[in-house]
Amino acid sequence: MGLYMNKLINFIVGSTLILLITGCDDKSISLYEEDYGVLDNGILIKQYIFENDNQMKVKIINYGAIVVSIEVPDKKGKINDVVLGYDSIDGYVQDPSYFGAIVGRVGNRISKGKFSLDGKDYALAINNNENHLHGGIQGFNKKVWTPEITESNGLPALKLTYLSPDGEEGYPGNLNLEVTYTISNKNELIIDYFGTTDKATILNPTNHSYFNLSGAGNGDILDHVLKINADYFTPVDKGLIPLGNHESVLGTPMDFLNPKKIGERINNDDNQLKVGLGYDHNWVFNNWDGTLKLGVTLFEPESGRFMEVFTTEPGVQFYSGNFLDGTNIGKNQKAYQYRSALCLETDHFPDSQNNSNFPSVVLRPGEEYKQKTIYQFSTK
Ligand code: BGC
Repeated sequence: MGLYMNKLINFIVGSTLILLITGCDDKSISLYEEDYGVLDNGILIKQYIFENDNQMKVKIINYGAIVVSIEVPDKKGKINDVVLGYDSIDGYVQDPSYFGAIVGRVGNRISKGKFSLDGKDYALAINNNENHLHGGIQGFNKKVWTPEITESNGLPALKLTYLSPDGEEGYPGNLNLEVTYTISNKNELIIDYFGTTDKATILNPTNHSYFNLSGAGNGDILDHVLKINADYFTPVDKGLIPLGNHESVLGTPMDFLNPKKIGERINNDDNQLKVGLGYDHNWVFNNWDGTLKLGVTLFEPESGRFMEVFTTEPGVQFYSGNFLDGTNIGKNQKAYQYRSALCLETDHFPDSQNNSNFPSVVLRPGEEYKQKTIYQFSTK
């Protein structure tokens, strides 16, 4: 793949900003902006559209830093949008399922919303039974982010910034988070996270896209074939809170070390699957060292679409869409049914701050929070 370094053309057509990068091999990526919708308070939300030369198109809005669509070809060249979402801003404002959003400050559950840091106890907003989930009542998925069209590694990029004030949802410190989205001509969606704080806090954001490689709304994901590079997962209690230990996947339906159909064992008589109502667990990647590594692959045999997930994170929450029940009316008025999509949320382990043996999610003044995840699409 050529280096994208030659021509950076940045011009304005009407209200639309177009950024086009042409590389040595004449491949180009464009990024442009258009109006998306207006919130009840009058704020205009923008949509950013990336397109490359290999039939990949990705749309992102600055509400919730949400990935609205990912269009990629199947093995015959047919294009489908492979993530769940809505047709308008109202859908995202009302959405209870975090479609496509950046969730945070801390993704997944914090037991009873409580944690201690430097000897001080904190009580976070409670929004999931007795627990805190995905950043609280008004998490990052419901915030307006400040957009900036920029360049990252020679590629056009969208940087979305959100300043979360001290005390928001109970979290300490003014936290500044930048999420930068880029696409490449290798059909990668690249997500970079950068955060700083002015008081010690906890931070563990992730992207909450719901994938269905047959196309959003086209049946369930039980025939998708999943591979997770993890010998261990973190078992949970009835409230989906980690027990604190690592358990071997061997001999259990959690074993995805070799590619397995998701539906093959999802209804097994297994204690962990019962509490999750299916898969809703964190897997512990093998040999984590903070560098970018392939952690997960997902294959859908009929379309031939293949997705690889690379990440710097130590774990992934694989959620098999067990709470989808047909009440989310999504794009093209399709009702999203039970297990019609799955999330692969790369992050630190849930409830890390209450489990000292899990890698730390603490961020202190002067430190820089940096993580990267890439979802790469191809066919086979
Ligand atoms: C969690 C599920 C939760 C869902 C919300 C997932 O990340 O693991 O337990 O219900 O998000 O849509």
